[in-house]
Amino acid sequence: MTTQAYPQPIIHDGDHDLVLRYRRTPRIIHMMLAISFLLLLITGLALFLPWFSQYASGGTSRVLHRVGAIIYMAIPFMYLLVDRPAARELLWDSFHYDRDDLDWLLHVYRYFMGHAEGMPPQGRLNAGQKLHHAGVVIFSALIVISGIILWAGKGDLGPANLAIAVSIHDLSMLVLTVLLVGHLYFTFVYRALSGMTTGYIDEEDARLEHAKWVEELEREEVMGKE
Ligand code: HEM
Repeated sequence: MTTQAYPQPIIHDGDHDLVLRYRRTPRIIHMMLAISFLLLLITGLALFLPWFSQYASGGTSRVLHRVGAIIYMAIPFMYLLVDRPAARELLWDSFHYDRDDLDWLLHVYRYFMGHAEGMPPQGRLNAGQKLHHAGVVIFSALIVISGIILWAGKGDLGPANLAIAVSIHDLSMLVLTVLLVGHLYFTFVYRALSGMTTGYIDEEDARLEHAKWVEELEREEVMGKE
């Protein structure tokens, strides 16, 4: 496979084609998102669970939690800075669902069991990914707002407000962790990992999950040759 400064949307690689899913910069930003989230989760558990706190030496986990938080909060700004159209598209797509998406959601059980063939055709994001990404946006916003309140104003909150902020913070992290488990499950079931490592996925896998998007890429490729 070739890795070029301006990667091709479709590569003809021997007897099969590869489709460009993510360019280098979104892949790097996603890696920072994944690392900062896991850092927040591990250090958060060290602060939250008494039996886990034995691994939190001194204030180390507290400091690392704040480092993770700063990176996590910077992610949307980095995304906007390096690729504003992609960030806008991601946000728009996550909150807009067409008839095919709704039909797809009615058959989500089949998708869950690893049988995506014959399901309603999907665009660049399938309806499940849209829901995942929308969940990430909403619960990340909640976790960041409650986190800033806890960080900046813990001493002034009073017991009732403190309990509310902590509950929102912890529940949001729980939801994001459940979303991550689903995200990892579908990544491996539908062989999507290479989209975030090399940037490319197999054309057959892409067509299975994102038929409308692959057809669009093919149309663009034909038009480019004309
Ligand atoms: C920890 C390991 C993780 C792995 C292996 C992983 C894997 C992936 C893969 C393969 C994709 C591309 C899916 C596609 O074909 O569109 C993706 C996209 C995405 N992931 Fe993850 N992910 C991880 C962690 C996370 C975390 C922690 C979050 C959020 C808190 C997250 C949020 C997202 C989002 C929002 C996208 C879409 C990115 C875009 O369209 O630009 N991921 N991930």
